[in-house]
Order: sequence, then structure tokens, then C-alpha cells
Amino acid sequence: MFPDFPRYSLDGYPELEGYTWEQCHEGEMGPGTLFQAMDLARQAGLERGMRVLDLACGRALSSVFVARHYGVQVMAGDLNVGPAVNWDRVTRAGLEDLITPIKMDARDIPFPEGYFDAVLCVNAYQYFGTDDLYLPYLLKFLKPSGRICIGGLCFSGEITAATPREFIVEDEAYAWHSPDWWRDHFTRQSLVDVTHCAAHPKGREIWLDSTRWRIERRHPKEWDALFRDSILTEAVALMMDRERFITSFMLVGRRH
Ligand SMILES: C[S@@+](CC[C@H](N)C(=O)[O-])C[C@H]1O[C@@H](n2cnc3c(N)ncnc32)[C@H](O)[C@@H]1O
Repeated sequence: MFPDFPRYSLDGYPELEGYTWEQCHEGEMGPGTLFQAMDLARQAGLERGMRVLDLACGRALSSVFVARHYGVQVMAGDLNVGPAVNWDRVTRAGLEDLITPIKMDARDIPFPEGYFDAVLCVNAYQYFGTDDLYLPYLLKFLKPSGRICIGGLCFSGEITAATPREFIVEDEAYAWHSPDWWRDHFTRQSLVDVTHCAAHPKGREIWLDSTRWRIERRHPKEWDALFRDSILTEAVALMMDRERFITSFMLVGRRH
């Protein structure tokens, strides 16, 4: 079934021992939240006791992962997913001592300056982070040498007039900048030492896998027109994409 949309292999991810494939996806609000969080965390040097802001955490999959695996204290902040929803996930995971869900706007961070050791943001930075003034604002809340770890949807290059329209699966895609764009965006103000910024080596596979999960988890009888349209649009784009244009990126850096 679905040979063009293979399940993402969990081989090579000892961190995910005990998770089923379904559990890796349950609650994700963008492609491969957990896989991206795991790959970012590996590079971030997280250590027990650090304070981490999971920015625009959605349903807190990434928060649960980093708290459980690294023993970090997480503020799980999101504007639209309420703390009650995420508290339920946190208590089910038994991580009440490590994770605090909070309703917050990324543009109005309710913490003291220099409070966090790291900021993690998966599948969401494009909603606020393309603003030239945002990075200096966000960095105020990080300690000197604090880590910044961003992962999310992207294209391997910028959209041009020659880009097939099918690849622009939604208006939001105009904010899916290339890894080169993000590197420039993070380095031009000399505020961050970027230690890694590149397309995720399995970015396409993560999209294919996530599309498959969304297809499998709903009985076809539960497909409404909106769901069908979005799945079809994405599937067509991924099938047409012979050059891995549609992918995701990972950026890891340290505040100066
Ligand atoms: C595509 S979802 C990704 C959620 C989660 N990180 C994940 O990967 O599953 C984007 C999230 O960004 C949140 N968001 C968008 N704008 C925001 C803002 N200004 N401040 C905080 N959260 C925001 C939305 O509420 C949503 O939960």
C-alpha cells in the first residue's frame, strides 16, 4: 500500500526506542515534528536542567521529546493551542515537573531577558521569523551562547517565475525560504554563530511519510473536501518533484 509514500524508517534513531510509528506522528501539526526535533536536539548540546523555550510548540510533541530524552525544563508556548490540551499530553507522559504549557505570542514573550539556554522551533518559525526585526527580539530571551534550533518546511531554492505552480501548495509557501536564505537571514546582523544550516538530508522522505500518516489515520469516510484537497495538492507536488525541491531545513546556532 502507498509504495510512493514510504513510512519513514526509525532505524538509526535510538532516541525513539519504545515509540511506534503512529506515536511518532500523533499530534504533529507539520511534517515530521518529532523527527525534526530529534535531529535538531542532537546538534544543540542540550543538557539536563537547561531551560528551553519550545516556540509555537503546537501540541507539544517536541516539548515532550526533549524533556523526556534530555531532562531539560521546557516552556511549551503556543498562541492557538491552549495549555489545557498540552497539559493533558504532559501528564500522560508523566512530565509535569519538566514541562509548563503556556499560551503566548512569539512576538510578546512573557519571560525575563536572558532566561533561556535554548530556543527550539519546529514547523512554525516562518510565521513570525522572516521579519528582520524578530531575531534580535528573540535573542534577548537567550543567555549569551544560548542555542537556537529551527527546523521547518522549505524549498531547496527560492520561488522564482520558473517554479512550477504545483509546488506552491498554499499561500504560506512563499515563506518557505531556502536554507541559504535562512543562513543569510541569521548571519547578516552578526548576532548568531550559525553552526549548521542546510536542507534536512531526509526532508523529502519526512514529507512523504507525514502525508502517508495523514492518509492512513483517517477513514476515507471521514475525509471532507478540505482534507481531500490539501492531501491531493501535496501528493501531486511531491510526485512531480523530481529534484527534491520540496524539503525541510535545519538551522542550529549560538547567540553571540
Ligand atoms: C504548523 S504548526 C506547528 C506546531 C508544532 N511545532 C509542530 O510542529 O507540530 C504552527 C504553530 O505555530 C503557532 N503559531 C503561529 N503563530 C504564532 C505566534 N505568533 N506565536 C506563537 N505561536 C504561533 C500555531 O498556533 C501553530 O500551533
